[in-house]
Amino acid sequence: MVADRLTSSPRIYDIYGFCGMAIMSEYFPYGDYEDVAVPGTGYLLTTKEQIEQQENELTPYNDIESIDKLRISLQMAEALADLHGDPNGAIVHQDVQLSQYLLSSDGKTVKLNDFNRAEFMLWDDNKGTYCKYGEGGGNGNWRSPEEYLNNNLDEKVDVFSLGNNLYSILTGLWVFYDEDNDTKMQQRVMDGEKAYIDPRYKERSLAESKLVYIIDQCHEFAPEKRPSIFEVVEFLREAMKEVNDDI
Ligand SMILES: Nc1ncnc2c1ncn2[C@@H]1O[C@H](COP(=O)(O)OP(=O)(O)O)[C@@H](O)[C@H]1O
Ligand SMILES: [Mg+2]
Repeated sequence: MVADRLTSSPRIYDIYGFCGMAIMSEYFPYGDYEDVAVPGTGYLLTTKEQIEQQENELTPYNDIESIDKLRISLQMAEALADLHGDPNGAIVHQDVQLSQYLLSSDGKTVKLNDFNRAEFMLWDDNKGTYCKYGEGGGNGNWRSPEEYLNNNLDEKVDVFSLGNNLYSILTGLWVFYDEDNDTKMQQRVMDGEKAYIDPRYKERSLAESKLVYIIDQCHEFAPEKRPSIFEVVEFLREAMKEVNDDI
């Protein structure tokens, strides 16, 4: 239903039909964006690796040009804005990850995929707001603190996870690259620890400095303090303009 409703968007994969649990959709010859953003292991687990990273010149662990980092980040945010801003009511993706963005045959555009956890938000007529909803405790290592805490949720979970995507696009590393145990990582997120962003990224390029700023905003602990996806899109569009003017 989500794919059907959003197939008209150039930022969402095109669905051609379905049968039972199967779908027929457009084919993405380059697969998903995860391998581009994190081509290596994405981890720096040993103290030696971590010290070397600090002592050596700052080099991202992927080969994405800084302007392309911004361009792809904007596309990812715009796709989510199509869901959150659906005229029939907000849709939450609920499973934003790098692997949910598929690379089109032009090699330059990503489209959002995989709606099997999506939520159609319900509207509370009395309060004049969307109702929050429950999902049960969140697993994995890409979720917001409120999902790990099993709190009631809203569309801001997507903004937090988008922040993780942008982090990996910026650095080529996983958030909390020093920890490969999901339970321990979840605890750090629940404790309010933010993913460490090397401050040298603020100086490396204008595009990367913009990403540092917005990642930090997306990683706000309290969902109500996080920007809306529309604010993220606006910021990234403005950033693209500034960077293009700068070239
Ligand atoms: N239309 C497609 N074209 C190419 N690769 C795809 C396509 N759909 C999915 N994939 C690949 O399969 C992976 C899993 O598909 P996805 O729809 O995300 O299901 P899941 O619920 O298993 O995550 C994707 O991350 C992507 O690498
Ligand atoms: Mg998937």
